Amino acid sequence: MSSKGVYSHRLKIKFILRPFRKGDEISLQKNIDNKKIARNLATVPYPYTIKMAKEWVAKKLKENKNRQPIIIDFVIDINGEVAGAIGFHKIEQEHRAEIGYWLAEKYWGSGIMTEAIREASKFAFGKLKLKRIYAAVFPWNKASMRVLEKNGFKFEGILRKNTLKNGKLIDDHIFAKIKK
Ligand SMILES: CC(C)(COP(=O)(O)OP(=O)(O)OC[C@H]1O[C@@H](n2cnc3c(N)ncnc32)[C@H](O)[C@@H]1OP(=O)(O)O)[C@@H](O)C(=O)NCCC(=O)NCCS
Repeated sequence: MSSKGVYSHRLKIKFILRPFRKGDEISLQKNIDNKKIARNLATVPYPYTIKMAKEWVAKKLKENKNRQPIIIDFVIDINGEVAGAIGFHKIEQEHRAEIGYWLAEKYWGSGIMTEAIREASKFAFGKLKLKRIYAAVFPWNKASMRVLEKNGFKFEGILRKNTLKNGKLIDDHIFAKIKK
């Protein structure tokens, strides 16, 4: 997908969702290399090096060619930069997938992720024909819970000690949206 563009009225910034492309490595590394982002994501390390960014983009370019993907990631592009990303992982049984996302700290609180989740969900329920999208949120991440709730995701429960990160077991709060 490459969206036409979404306008965040609060920040007066426009973003688009598009696939990763060569040249994304530098802004990806610059914007994701943040302890406050890494602590909320199961698999993103801190520090995040340029080598990791290069490997990630190379992997995404390969995945983009796959006709029946099990992972789809979009860049949240602001002025040509990787300002964040949103994607569907574990696309399984042709009906469900886990959604994950992050945004550069300088854009937090501007309504961007609320809109990005809205766009990505439309794509998943429409183009991918999924019936269930779910997210696993760490207990302290109230902003993430809020953006999901604003998009009609419902809290389903807690998977206790479900994620192992930096040697610690963390509870996952599960939120899901169902296509009626
Ligand atoms: C979580 C994240 C994606 C939110 O993105 P964002 O663009 O800032 O989100 P929005 O501006 O669309 O909305 C944030 C909402 O959370 C609310 N919020 C922020 N901090 C909050 C807190 N500590 N407690 C309660 N609500 C909070 C905001 O008030 C806003 O709600 P409102 O519109 O009703 O006022 C962003 O902070 C981020 O990338 N964090 C690091 C990575 C991450 O957590 N990813 C998700 C993993 S599950």
